[in-house]
Amino acid sequence: MQVAVIGGTGVVGRCVVAELVARGHTALAVSRTAPADGPAAAPGGRAEREGAERARAEREGAERARAERARAEQEGAQHAAPSGRAEHRRADLRSGDGLAAALDGADAVVDASNDQRARKDELARASRTLLAAEAVAGVGHHVAISIVGCDRAAVGYYGAKVAQEQVVTSGPVAWSLLRATQFHQLIAWAFSAAGRARLRPTGRALIQPIDPAVVATRLVGAVEAGPGGRLPDVGGPRVQTLAELAADWQAHGGAAALPLPLPLRLIGRTGRALRDGSLTAPGAAAPGPTFAQWLDLDRDRAPAAVRESAAR
Ligand SMILES: NC(=O)c1ccc[n+]([C@@H]2O[C@H](COP(=O)([O-])OP(=O)(O)OC[C@H]3O[C@@H](n4cnc5c(N)ncnc54)[C@H](OP(=O)(O)O)[C@@H]3O)[C@@H](O)[C@H]2O)c1
Repeated sequence: MQVAVIGGTGVVGRCVVAELVARGHTALAVSRTAPADGPAAAPGGRAEREGAERARAEREGAERARAERARAEQEGAQHAAPSGRAEHRRADLRSGDGLAAALDGADAVVDASNDQRARKDELARASRTLLAAEAVAGVGHHVAISIVGCDRAAVGYYGAKVAQEQVVTSGPVAWSLLRATQFHQLIAWAFSAAGRARLRPTGRALIQPIDPAVVATRLVGAVEAGPGGRLPDVGGPRVQTLAELAADWQAHGGAAALPLPLPLRLIGRTGRALRDGSLTAPGAAAPGPTFAQWLDLDRDRAPAAVRESAAR
């Protein structure tokens, strides 16, 4: 299958590209900026390939993965080339520039694009532009990703996600919609950014972070299954408090910092949703690395101290 991954150079988009390639599909990674390290190399780079492999190994069972690895090693095929391929196509969802060419030949689209600073109507407007281009190009399936509980905290960015969901579910292209919990990278980014201000977010906020490679396996599964409407939510393996995640970050070399209890009253509905667990889905916990395990595995994303000790 030929699949356009809008935002195919982003955090989950790269994992989707890697998973598509691993399953023998052609992935068209679409974004405004081509990856610096080449059209096929960056989407589905080493870290994403490893992540996708981990998620797949979990799905198929550790036993089978071990057997397959042993057989591959025996055959001297440790790094067997995947049968699929990836290429980059440049397009801008805001202006629509390049979209027609980017979607040319695509059977399905996974929209993994993002704009964290989007106001309420901006994601929706971009999705409308994308869906109109898909309809013209004859794309048969639009796969969207959203956020667990966004409708329970529908302000700011989450409000923009709800509006985007409505555009997809009432749009001209048959669709699937998967809601996922926060990615490990987002939690790491938040701790890292706060750490630069010598702060350590902490408190009772409930979060269920997930490896985006696990989310990517669900998205690619949805592509292969065909339009499925609203799919079961997917969440990380464990619901944790922000304080527990902060302790994991510290244990992995996060610099000493002043505790900053969250959520503050100031952040209103989102704060309430974080406190009461509305942004988690314990019943949808998927196997995969916890935040601490992910920090162990992805040393290039762990705090600087971890990277330095690994380099020694
Ligand atoms: N991050 C999380 O914790 C999380 C959790 C659950 C669900 N999600 C959802 O997952 C999706 C992807 O999030 P992410 O964090 O993986 O995104 P990300 O890492 O920020 O990547 C965004 C991607 O979108 C592309 N992009 C941005 N603006 C564009 C435009 N105008 N035209 C074309 N491409 C554009 C970017 O490339 P260029 O800038 O080069 O164009 C990049 O490839 C979003 O829908 C998000 O709501 C995220």
